[in-house]
Amino acid sequence: MSEPKPTYRHDYRPPAYRVRHTELRFDLEPGATRVRARLHVERHPERQAGEPLVLDGEQLLLTSIAIDGQALAEAEYALSDTGLTVLRPPERFLLDTEVEISPRENTALEGLYLSNGMYCTQCEAEGFRRITYYPDRPDVMATFSTTVVGDKATLPVLLSNGNPVERGELPDGRHFVTWDDPFPKPSYLFALVAGDLQKVEDRFTTMSGRDVTLQIWVEKANLGKTDHAMASLKRAMQWDEQTYGREYDLDLFMIVAVDDFNMGAMENKGLNIFNTAAVLTHPHTATDATFQRVEGIVAHEYFHNWSGNRVTCRDWFQLSLKEGFTVFRDQCFSADVNSAPVKRIEDVAFFRTAQFAEDAGPTAHPVRPDHYIEIGNFYTLTIYEKGAEVVRMLCNLVGWEAFRRGSDLYFERFDGQAVTIEDFVDCMAEASGLDLSQFMLWYSQAGTPEIDAHGEYDYANAEYRLTLRQRTPATPDQPEKLALHIPIRMGLVGTKSGRDLALTLDGKPLDRDGVIHLREAEQTFVFTDVPEAPVPSLLRGFSAPVQLRFPYGREDLAFLLANDSDGFNRWDAGQRLAMLALDDLIAAHRNGVEKVMDPRVVEAFRALLERGSKDKAVMAEMLTLPSEAYIAEQQPLVDVEAIHAARTFVEQSLAAALSDDFLRLYEENRSDIPYAPTPEQIGQRSLKNVALSYLMAIEDEQAVALAHQQFEADHNMTDVRHALTLLVHSSRDDLADPALRAFGEKWAHEPLVMDQWFAIQVTRPQTDALERVRYLMGHPAFSLKNPNRVRALVGTFANQNRINFHRTDGEGYRLLTDVVIELNRLNPEIAARLVTPLTRWQRFDEPRQELMKGELERIRAEKLSPNVYEVIEKALAQ
Ligand code: TRP
Ligand code: ZN
Repeated sequence: MSEPKPTYRHDYRPPAYRVRHTELRFDLEPGATRVRARLHVERHPERQAGEPLVLDGEQLLLTSIAIDGQALAEAEYALSDTGLTVLRPPERFLLDTEVEISPRENTALEGLYLSNGMYCTQCEAEGFRRITYYPDRPDVMATFSTTVVGDKATLPVLLSNGNPVERGELPDGRHFVTWDDPFPKPSYLFALVAGDLQKVEDRFTTMSGRDVTLQIWVEKANLGKTDHAMASLKRAMQWDEQTYGREYDLDLFMIVAVDDFNMGAMENKGLNIFNTAAVLTHPHTATDATFQRVEGIVAHEYFHNWSGNRVTCRDWFQLSLKEGFTVFRDQCFSADVNSAPVKRIEDVAFFRTAQFAEDAGPTAHPVRPDHYIEIGNFYTLTIYEKGAEVVRMLCNLVGWEAFRRGSDLYFERFDGQAVTIEDFVDCMAEASGLDLSQFMLWYSQAGTPEIDAHGEYDYANAEYRLTLRQRTPATPDQPEKLALHIPIRMGLVGTKSGRDLALTLDGKPLDRDGVIHLREAEQTFVFTDVPEAPVPSLLRGFSAPVQLRFPYGREDLAFLLANDSDGFNRWDAGQRLAMLALDDLIAAHRNGVEKVMDPRVVEAFRALLERGSKDKAVMAEMLTLPSEAYIAEQQPLVDVEAIHAARTFVEQSLAAALSDDFLRLYEENRSDIPYAPTPEQIGQRSLKNVALSYLMAIEDEQAVALAHQQFEADHNMTDVRHALTLLVHSSRDDLADPALRAFGEKWAHEPLVMDQWFAIQVTRPQTDALERVRYLMGHPAFSLKNPNRVRALVGTFANQNRINFHRTDGEGYRLLTDVVIELNRLNPEIAARLVTPLTRWQRFDEPRQELMKGELERIRAEKLSPNVYEVIEKALAQ
């Protein structure tokens, strides 16, 4: 097999031909679906006449081809594994092809496939080429007219993009529906769904007074689980009108829920397709976290209608143009409708763990990459989450008003076009008058910038000097890095007053937001008229995606934890304080010295508990220790056992010292009022459950009884799941086993709850976890063909059960490798994602490195999909 070749951003050329209008007709059959495509093609005005027309196509069986009604002779076109070339096409013509495809054989879940008897499509990024021959690139935008034909009894519902314009009966019990999408779109936004579905319907009146029908299509058994998604959709529609002045543009907006889906959801024009896990909720089956995730994803896909669909990407190197902007939009939406500080804390905690790890590993890449082998591998935390941080920085730099003007300009200027990241940033520069040229480095330079800060207070002159030094470590094929433009929001908190001091920089008051601009490799900022010694509060709200170090003492951190006016930095001070204690304990564990808990950390937590907080969700976050994955990210070399032991020790020490407080917190926040996913209730439940986790860390009889009662009370899935997890992760198998069995039997018919059932078991810290994973892979409900199941069982184990995945006998690595090798054949997109933990081998000790590399070699010896090939080559190139 020849090696897959990379695609380079600099090789971009506009297409030689455009498609103005696309007519499709699908004759649905599981093993042999016929797809007829009539493409209205014309030469690109800037390109010469007579160039060949290159169409993408994979796994298609061509049954006919004609131009303007004239069948093509074999000499007039060329076929290959990757496409079809019409050698000498005319200037303007109608290309008419028919192909046969097999949805039933499609386990990759790209293109047209069957999920639980239902036909559905996934075309982003390059799935449309598995449906028909087409210029499958986002800069070719056409209007679509799609006729779907299928068996009326088994496929009563036939959906596609746009508006239904015709329907009717056909011989042999078949029927058809024709759909028209008047908005030009690239092929990646095409969608088709056919099956035995039921709908829930609602309406929304847009700000200009247009009436829109909203539909959520599900299998009959899921009809009772759509309320929250529908309410979220309406909130998102309204928010986009109020915040960005953008309204919906078709008469119909549909969401469909499917069981087998590679990602969360997809923004196909007028017909969003969702993983059931990202849309269905019910208090009995979904946790608070799921309710919030659904709200965020529904909003995300809806927001794409403007940021992605009306204005799309010129090529896939610009992916963050739509994803970074849309994630920023959904984050702001969720912050506005929930607890804003908690949303930021959760996003940043996740970002600093997972995106920092990506940036530090062999697959590090810029927000706008320069090359790729398989674009499906680039739906990453860097493109999405770091891309959103970059847009957030832009917004903070130019201010909301200018950002909104820039956004209006962008949507007006580029409506109906496929554009670039520069086009977007240019609009922001134009609207604000700011020079953003240095800022553009954020898009081209990979890696997490590190900032070393130190400060001095000069009492005699009432000055505070803050020196910042930035450095971005080398990443694969980017050895040299330039200094970035980094906005740092900050305050100086007076140690006497406990208040933010007025900031005067270079004789002028610093702007209200307190942002300083770091542009050089090293810069000193001198604040004058500083009346008392301050503790600096830096990078408030995580104003830039960087790793910031400052030599804080424990007293400084306890002080900030109590006094910082910025809620995010109050939380971060607590995390930093816990990290200092954890560092000592990790060292003690490695050196075989007895572990002693730092009393200052205990006292800081005690003070926190006594002070309380109005926002219970924030309080719950403050009481949550950094995860093992985050701690690992902060260590030069990951010591799996020491991290696990140190974190457990801190948890148990806090629990032992503060058990009365935790018990009080638990009791105060119990409630039997009916479940609702409101921010207040969610905050209260989080706080109660954090308290229960601490109580269970020491597993006394009372704690075990509380957890068991909470499980038995069966009030809502959040509480049940939390209690069950604590029992299963405790030493009390006498209670855990029957509880697990009861839960498994009760929910056997609910796939999304069974995913939780699998995940709870494979995260248990006991030494039998790996054997459980192997055992559960043989469970009748497990299937490698369902991505949710694979993620719940194997992904959760490899990513969240660090102590067992990294077992010194290498069994964890072997298990993951076995699964990756099988999935490489079935579903390359999922296989390439799943292998990620093994690619991080550089971070571990020698023996583990050897074991992990050995498994990567074992994968390399297989006949690989381009997806897995690209990841493995990068991982072994280090
Ligand atoms: N555009 C989708 C989103 O962010 C992502 C997506 C859904 C996707 N399914 C996919 C990307 C399959 C690649 C492959 O909302
Ligand atoms: Zn998206």
